[in-house]
Amino acid sequence: MDVLIHLFVGLHIIGIAALLGGFLTQMKAMGRGTARFVPAMLHGALTMLVTGVVLVGLNEAQDHHVNTIKIGVKLALLIVILGLVYVKRDDEKVDKSMFGLVGLLTMVNIFIAVLWT
Ligand code: HEM
Repeated sequence: MDVLIHLFVGLHIIGIAALLGGFLTQMKAMGRGTARFVPAMLHGALTMLVTGVVLVGLNEAQDHHVNTIKIGVKLALLIVILGLVYVKRDDEKVDKSMFGLVGLLTMVNIFIAVLWT
């Protein structure tokens, strides 16, 4: 079971790479106000949600302690990210502040994950 948990942490990290990587590729365009939510960002956010929920289940099944407040905060931020990326996925360009917010919330979630022990 531990192997499965590690496997899903790996998939969770691939999700972060897609979401954050998609954001980073658009940073120059964001400066010009022409950034858009690329498909990798939507797929990355969905991957984070699915793998995160599976990780909670696998950890609970193993009787590993899961910090529910930390997970709740990460989930709440991801729902905002996912909502914005999903609704605006077909827009040719997205407002600079909205695009920046998605990148900021993604980074906040990364630091919550690694600093909140
Ligand atoms: C953008 C959103 C997210 C980011 C950037 C993120 C980031 C991370 C990172 C870097 C790790 C590995 C480090 C660690 O073990 O703490 C991790 C683990 C984990 N994440 Fe996430 N995560 C996000 C969303 C979620 C969501 C929505 C859930 C649950 C619904 C979730 C559940 C978990 C669980 C259960 C682990 C296993 C380690 C633990 O028990 O803390 N994550 N996440």
